[in-house]
Amino acid sequence: MPKLTINGQTVDYSGDPGMPLLWYLRDEQGLKGAKFGCGAGLCGACTVHVNGEARRSCVTPMAALEGASVTTIEGLSDGETLHPVQEAWLAEDVAQCGYCQTGQIMAVAALLETNANPSDGDIDESLTNICRCGTYYRLRKAVHRAAELKSGRAS
Ligand code: FES
Ligand code: FES
Repeated sequence: MPKLTINGQTVDYSGDPGMPLLWYLRDEQGLKGAKFGCGAGLCGACTVHVNGEARRSCVTPMAALEGASVTTIEGLSDGETLHPVQEAWLAEDVAQCGYCQTGQIMAVAALLETNANPSDGDIDESLTNICRCGTYYRLRKAVHRAAELKSGRAS
């Protein structure tokens, strides 16, 4: 049975190996940030990080997580210091209903780890999370702002 960490806490999982990570996070860990949208890996509402990469937790079985490091939106900030993507999201006022937003933020945070300054084309190509409210314009602006904030913190 897999042993993994969730937001830095070690977890020994002994339940159904086929349980989707999203169910485990929400129902057994009380981490409700990741959302259920399609349940089929399509919409991205359930996006978390697994070993630093964006992963759709609704289609990630617990059995696949031996030794994995999982980060959810609840673990993204550094204590009281928001992650640059969270800060940019607030500054650009991206959210409307908010349902897709945690997944969007996690996807963007992972993107900036591999592409520190994504172009509009990179953003459109890399971010496949769906937003029913159509926040894409502000979302793109927030990605550019987050990239600037992140590079400012690094320098
Ligand atoms: S709920 Fe996981 S991708 Fe839609
Ligand atoms: S903000 Fe409503 S679905 Fe994206």
